[in-house]
Amino acid sequence: MKRRIRQPTSPRRGRPSGQRPGERPSGVRPRPAFGRGPRPEIGGWDHVAAWYDRLVGDEGSDYHQKVILPVVLRLLDPRPAERFLDLCCGQGVLARILLERGAGSVLAVDASPGLIAAARRRGPADRRVRYEVRDARRLDDLADGSCDAAACVMAVQDLEGVDDLFRSMARSLKENGRAVIVMMHPCFRIPRQSSWGWDDEKKTQYRRIERYASPMTVPIATHPGREPDEHTMFHHRPLADYLNALGRAGLAVVACEEPLTHREPPPGPRAKGLKRAGEEIPVFLAFKAMRLPGCSPRSSEVMKRGG
Ligand SMILES: C[S@@+](CC[C@H](N)C(=O)[O-])C[C@H]1O[C@@H](n2cnc3c(N)ncnc32)[C@H](O)[C@@H]1O
Repeated sequence: MKRRIRQPTSPRRGRPSGQRPGERPSGVRPRPAFGRGPRPEIGGWDHVAAWYDRLVGDEGSDYHQKVILPVVLRLLDPRPAERFLDLCCGQGVLARILLERGAGSVLAVDASPGLIAAARRRGPADRRVRYEVRDARRLDDLADGSCDAAACVMAVQDLEGVDDLFRSMARSLKENGRAVIVMMHPCFRIPRQSSWGWDDEKKTQYRRIERYASPMTVPIATHPGREPDEHTMFHHRPLADYLNALGRAGLAVVACEEPLTHREPPPGPRAKGLKRAGEEIPVFLAFKAMRLPGCSPRSSEVMKRGG
């Protein structure tokens, strides 16, 4: 899961008057700083699909197994025969677990054909699961309220247009249906703008945050050194942008977790300070939200067409 950052962006500062909190003004986008390589396509993960499939394997990376999936399952609370939507499913690591736990059906969508192919290859071949190459922000053909629960794991920071993603999620859910979102912690993990430091006097490790409030897009090299042009795009947004987008979609947050690392620091004179930092500064942020009764969220595209 650990990827090194290649290049920073020039983040936007301040908020023009008239703009609602957390809402991006029309025409203003966080400015990406691309290398000379091609801009990744929507979703931007197909070119690294083989690497990501190997990293995650059948049961998940160590972060999936030790931290992320336990949180997802605790918040999602899957029950037998329920209908699930897995948005940005990658190579299907969560969908496989939901099937094992007796899901009635799982619709798993991802923008990367390579990762959907990997999900199908890893199986199991089961009539209850459907893997589809789709843009998770454009699921307006799904019947309103067709799912009991939906998840989006480690992907919101990989896409632009989080409003449309959350609207897709909300619309797919029945009233009071559960949505679970897990992401890199937007307050502490900001590519290129956050890092660890060591205070020699206090013998403590601290997290240094240089920029936070400005949304920014940062390319992240998947194999630093080896394939300098191979990167995915990370979209940083402040916490308020996520909460406000959930609210606009009609999703009410009912629980939140801030998972810590499971990794132990190496032995040595700094071990105590490093361990303390690992126990205090979260790596991830997880929300459980519920679709508010009486809300009918549509994607902004559909709303623009007057649908
Ligand atoms: C870090 S991977 C996480 C995948 C999976 N949820 C997991 O935990 O292994 C991010 C995924 O988001 C997918 N993605 C990004 N933008 C997308 C979009 N607009 N629609 C569908 N999938 C998208 C990528 O293809 C990639 O598989």
